[in-house]
Amino acid sequence: MSIKIAPSILAADFANLEKEIRKVEQAGADLIHIDVMDGNFVPNITIGACVVKDIRKITKLPLEAHLMIKHPECFIDDFVQAGADMVSVHIETISAAQIKRQAAKLRPKGIKLGVALNPATALSKIKGVLGCVDFVLIMAVNPGFSGQKFMPQVLPKIKKLRSMFNAEIAVDGGINDLVAGDLIRAGADILAVASFIFGCSDYKQAIERLRNA
Ligand code: DX5
Ligand code: ZN
Repeated sequence: MSIKIAPSILAADFANLEKEIRKVEQAGADLIHIDVMDGNFVPNITIGACVVKDIRKITKLPLEAHLMIKHPECFIDDFVQAGADMVSVHIETISAAQIKRQAAKLRPKGIKLGVALNPATALSKIKGVLGCVDFVLIMAVNPGFSGQKFMPQVLPKIKKLRSMFNAEIAVDGGINDLVAGDLIRAGADILAVASFIFGCSDYKQAIERLRNA
């Protein structure tokens, strides 16, 4: 499986969002990672389904809504209707039973459901849902902001998950060209990256540096 690069628009210029998305698309992005925050589960507020709906009109790339919100089950349908192809929910915010219910609902529609977990959350917490999710999103920073430092403690977690999970593993937070190689070797399939890409003057070069790390 070749590595997928998912620019996280949290570090994009929101006044020029269309331009930014077209630029990363042309630069070789595989999907667009959209950080949804509620000011409650995390100490920041960002993007709602109405923005996803407009992004849907300007790109054919798959859109992932990373829901960092309480009661995600109340909002998943809104994001799917807005055009998200992938939705990730945090295990800290939802029960295993509810994840199973949502998976049963989304699968027939071809929408991928992922379970995300914070750096401090043990893999044992998601064990019960690994059979029903399409991907796992491992956070390498505490969710809330872009531009934080990568936590290398997540590397053994990725390796362990790789040995017990056959579908895609995404990693999110603090990723740059210096850590991407370790993540790929540990078993990551998708890298969600904000500040390293959007902070670079040449998005294509940034994405290539991540891919070839
Ligand atoms: C953090 C978000 C990340 C963030 C990554 O809460 O979920 O997707 O935008 O930003 P960088 O790559 O700058 O750490
Ligand atoms: Zn994210």
